[in-house]
Amino acid sequence: MESRQRFLIFGWLAIAFSLFLHVDSAARTSNRWIPQNADQVQMPSSPVKLYTWKDHVMLDNGIVKLTLLSPNGLIAGIQYKGVENVLDYHLREPRRGYWDIVWSRPQERKSFFYEFEGTSFKVIAETEDMIEISFTNTWNSSLSDSYPLNVDIRYIMLRGSSGFYSYGIMEHLEGWPDLNIDEARIAFKLHPDMFNYMAVSDNIQTNMPTSNDRIGGRVLDYKEAVLLTNPSNATLKGEVDDKYQYSYDNKDSFVHGWISSRRNIGFWVITPSNEFRAGGPMKNDLTSHVGPTSLAIFFSGHYAGSNFGIRLRNGEPWKKVFGPIFIYLNSGFWEDAKKQMQKETQKWPYDFPQSKDFPHANQRGTITGRLFVRDRYLSRQCMPAKSAYVGLAPPGDVGSWQTDTKGYQFWSQTDENGYFTIRAIREGTYNLNAWVPGLIGDYKHGADIVIKPGSQIQLGNLLYTPPRNGPTLWEIGIPDRTPAEFYVPDAAPEFKNNLFINQTEKYRQYGLWDRYTDLYPDQDLIYTVGVSNYKKDWFFAHVNRRTNSTQKYEATTWQVSFHLTNVTRKQTYTLRIALASANYAEIQVWINNPCTTRPHFTTRLIGRDNAIARHGIHGLYSLYSVDVPGFQLVHGKNTIYLKQSRGENPFCGVMYDYIRLEGPPKVMFAGGSGSSDDDGSSFGRGGVGVSNLDLWQVVACCGADNGCVVVMEVAVY
Ligand SMILES: *[C@@H]1O[C@H](CO)[C@@H](O)[C@H](O)[C@H]1NC(C)=O
Ligand SMILES: *[C@@H]1O[C@H](CO)[C@@H](O)[C@H](O)[C@H]1NC(C)=O
Ligand SMILES: *[C@@H]1O[C@H](CO)[C@@H](O)[C@H](O)[C@H]1NC(C)=O
Ligand SMILES: *[C@@H]1O[C@H](CO)[C@@H](O)[C@H](O)[C@H]1NC(C)=O
Ligand SMILES: *[C@@H]1O[C@H](CO)[C@@H](O)[C@H](O)[C@H]1NC(C)=O
Repeated sequence: MESRQRFLIFGWLAIAFSLFLHVDSAARTSNRWIPQNADQVQMPSSPVKLYTWKDHVMLDNGIVKLTLLSPNGLIAGIQYKGVENVLDYHLREPRRGYWDIVWSRPQERKSFFYEFEGTSFKVIAETEDMIEISFTNTWNSSLSDSYPLNVDIRYIMLRGSSGFYSYGIMEHLEGWPDLNIDEARIAFKLHPDMFNYMAVSDNIQTNMPTSNDRIGGRVLDYKEAVLLTNPSNATLKGEVDDKYQYSYDNKDSFVHGWISSRRNIGFWVITPSNEFRAGGPMKNDLTSHVGPTSLAIFFSGHYAGSNFGIRLRNGEPWKKVFGPIFIYLNSGFWEDAKKQMQKETQKWPYDFPQSKDFPHANQRGTITGRLFVRDRYLSRQCMPAKSAYVGLAPPGDVGSWQTDTKGYQFWSQTDENGYFTIRAIREGTYNLNAWVPGLIGDYKHGADIVIKPGSQIQLGNLLYTPPRNGPTLWEIGIPDRTPAEFYVPDAAPEFKNNLFINQTEKYRQYGLWDRYTDLYPDQDLIYTVGVSNYKKDWFFAHVNRRTNSTQKYEATTWQVSFHLTNVTRKQTYTLRIALASANYAEIQVWINNPCTTRPHFTTRLIGRDNAIARHGIHGLYSLYSVDVPGFQLVHGKNTIYLKQSRGENPFCGVMYDYIRLEGPPKVMFAGGSGSSDDDGSSFGRGGVGVSNLDLWQVVACCGADNGCVVVMEVAVY
């Protein structure tokens, strides 16, 4: 029978459903989010004051003075510690600090870079302890060259605080014309004579070149990458500078900025929450770079592609609050900036922003739960998902959070035992998503999660069953959404940035795409299972080879060779290819014969994340599962050919996260002659129970106090 065969191929059909047995009302919560006592002993501080002139306004708390143009709200000056202006006052006032967007109309190819300019200034709150001001711009439909968006940019200064906050509310009303927004951020242009030292993480901080050094340098493969040929500080000569070398994932990017060694001043952009950033925890973006410039990026297509952005169609109403972020000024030190970042994070959600669109803590909700995983070829039992990323994102397909820009996202990580708590969730309807380091694929919880003010939702036990058809025959790498464990070469001596030498993050070096050709000048990479070591023998990016005629790049074909015994010709093997990045690439798969006219499988043209050119260690994640019929394999040596078929350009290619060949499904449990309508009573409370039934396998994942998830696997013969 046809169905019989189909099920023989797929073997077990796993059905997972949740039964909440013995739910204990005392749900576990992690301690990570218990608010600290935020009020610290403060020095006597002056009240916050607002000064207004015809075309300027100033906020002053005796520590920092923030001067804005009025009514457009552009940042003209930041005064701190006797320094009149830490911004670059050689620039015109409107060019020193600003919110901006890149927007376009869907039917047009042109896009516009636009600094937000308010047309109306308003004081929202004014007490001795805080002042909040607003600069708004309301769309005027008779101005044909403007974007259909209402924008409200806010600035807040608190008493005794060494800095200021900014947030923005963008709104597209129902019925308004279509709009694309590709980027939104705040940019600060700092004073070049003062700020010389940049810090973006514990390891990545250094004396930086100047903008003039770049102007005098040699532009490399694209304009952002410059070889410093005659820098003012001679020790930087021969190094490459490129702003993309300083990108970070959202999950690792909460504070960055610049230090003036001479004036002992630090300028820091602190992002206290990722809820308003797009694309989830793995989205990568710019931080600070030569200028000196510091950015607060809310979203952009960097490391994601030109389709990543807000797309408003058919009069869709949309509104989103970006921020607040905190601009912190201190006496120079990175460690203090990190401490301040922690304080800001703990204060989240802030209780002082006045916009009704920014809900305070009591208007938000919390969810808790516990995530298990079950991969029956790794373990018969359910295992708690350790350090898994669990997050709420707008409803969508599995994994769609990676490209979501319109909504809010709320992510957390599970502890050792799979428990997670996500707090401070804004009201709304979400999907719960997760991915687990060490396992392929994406988890999405079946039901929508509706958060109301004060919601305390206990989801109980959840189960992720990653894609799996059979036992692992071999695998390359670690499934963790990056190729960091593979071989990352040193930079060519003529293109190094000394900062990244001897770092674990040497993928940040310029020009590594050409190192492939240096290592494999004529013959492509061949990986022999059981002999090769992916840490040394698997190049971290599948790139093109530079040919001897300059500027030409040719496609490359990698080989994985492996021995098989006992090939079952009638069954299906499965090749899993997890990609950590793709850019104008096509991966074609051949099994044992690279000369057939058509590949066994092709991804077709995929990806625009441009992570190779931008020195990223990943872009967007994707997973391909390729059926390999047993009759295509042989007893003995087999070879899988992976061809990245799009040549020409050095930046076309992919980064593999992980590759695995699975054998055909195995029937693990012989059928008995019991009943198949088990009511769950055969497995007890606590621990993990297994019971064999006729054609059924039931595995219960039970927490000590939280009830059980029951996995039922059905074998169909
Ligand atoms: C919109 O723009 C038109 C054309 O410049 C102007 O006449 C009108 O006053 C504007 N409307 C508002 C509400 O600003
Ligand atoms: C030049 O750069 C080096 C290396 O970063 C640094 O040690 C030195 O202090 C810099 N010199 C000046 C004058 O900034
Ligand atoms: C990197 O490490 C090597 C070996 O320990 C050392 O010789 C070299 O000086 C180091 N380079 C830098 C820039 O720290
Ligand atoms: C390119 O030139 C190098 C050095 O001359 C040589 O070793 C290599 O074989 C050449 N490659 C091709 C594909 O011609
Ligand atoms: C291959 O099959 C033979 C005969 O069934 C068995 O003895 C042997 O253990 C199998 N080898 C492997 C590697 O499974």
